[in-house]
Amino acid sequence: MMEIKVDLSEVEMDGTNESGAIYIEVLNNGPYLVHGEPPVIQRFIETDDKGTSIAYRNGRSFEMKSAVAFCRCGHSKNAPYCDGHHAMIDIDLKESATFTPLLDSAELIIGSTVSLADNKSYCAFGRFCDAGKGVWNEVKELGKVAEEITEEIARNCPGGRLVVLSNDTKLPVDDILPPSIGLIEDPKEMCSGPLAVWGGIRVQSASGSSYEIRTRQALCRCGASSNKPFCDGTHARIDYKDGIAPE
Ligand code: FES
Repeated sequence: MMEIKVDLSEVEMDGTNESGAIYIEVLNNGPYLVHGEPPVIQRFIETDDKGTSIAYRNGRSFEMKSAVAFCRCGHSKNAPYCDGHHAMIDIDLKESATFTPLLDSAELIIGSTVSLADNKSYCAFGRFCDAGKGVWNEVKELGKVAEEITEEIARNCPGGRLVVLSNDTKLPVDDILPPSIGLIEDPKEMCSGPLAVWGGIRVQSASGSSYEIRTRQALCRCGASSNKPFCDGTHARIDYKDGIAPE
């Protein structure tokens, strides 16, 4: 196969929140402050009879005002909102994530028509990548069917760990997502997951700097990620439950 070079430094990872009115502030050892009234909805990961993640089912939606504090310590009794618990417990919510663009340190898997960039640091344990033969194998398969499978799998990736790149344009092949915040719920693992921040919503660190704006990001709300403010999948290991009733 002809060697295809994808210059990751030329790829722009932008979303659709062009006005920038919707954004999230990470407060120092405190909650997320969500600005701009994005829609907030529970998103349940649905699985097939083999237990593979295949889709999302929407659950309850939540009312928003101009600036709303969302829990990121995992202990609020009024989730998804902050109830001040972080100040009553001994917890370190210090951010540890890098500001380096995701693609700069992604592994690149070259396929016949599309390629896949994979940055494991942003894995939110959604497990959609296990569909088919596994996204890494699918991308290497020839033909349109494999391409469609690969794109669908990547689009379900809650934290945007997987990015499909066109071999022609060397740009991400991604759908346009309206800004939204999803509260991930994982019935198969019997746990709750991160805030799925989709549609190009800017996340501003407590330091005042902003992280790279991406189409899909997953922000930790269990308080235990080692890549704060992003989810690293630890919520499943600690059995995090947000306590929100489904309906
Ligand atoms: S919500 Fe995933 S690690 Fe905290």
